[in-house]
Amino acid sequence: MDSKKQIDKVRKQDKKKILFVCLGNICRSPAAEGVMEKMLKEENLDKNFELDSAGLYAGHAGELPDRRMRIHASRRGYDLTHRSRPVKISDFDEFDLIVAMDNSNFDRLRAFAPSPEAEQKVVRMIDFVKGFPGYDYVPDPYYEGAEGFELVLDLLEEGCRNMIEDLR
Ligand code: 4NP
Repeated sequence: MDSKKQIDKVRKQDKKKILFVCLGNICRSPAAEGVMEKMLKEENLDKNFELDSAGLYAGHAGELPDRRMRIHASRRGYDLTHRSRPVKISDFDEFDLIVAMDNSNFDRLRAFAPSPEAEQKVVRMIDFVKGFPGYDYVPDPYYEGAEGFELVLDLLEEGCRNMIEDLR
């Protein structure tokens, strides 16, 4: 698969730059960035990675992650301090992997990519998640209750753990 090739390529690089993308950049993608950052620090791998997150909808630009997301994340030890920003075309140059939270994000990022090489950088978060067979994307928790936020964190923890294994 395309994404496997891209991951093999990134694994060989000293510095691996990863951008997590969702719709608003206030729930799923800043949480993914926070989870990944903590896991990398614990493994002493943080020097080899550069992380950021962005959204396909600019309406929350400048905002901290959604308060509910910050509360659920902090209970698991993740401190989410990212400020929402929209995806920009230069992100396709800047980053090696652009990780989409759902299939709409994935399709829009692929369509937005300025070249076939840039398109190959776009992968799905859920493809790194193996322990939740009922899910084929990371669901938007924005209109959900507490369990929606917990589910997102469960999926992201498993996905980030596997992504680190694939890239180390
Ligand atoms: P996210 O969640 O994409 O995980 O950040 C959302 C946040 C805000 C909106 C949609 C999704 N919104 O439409 O405002």
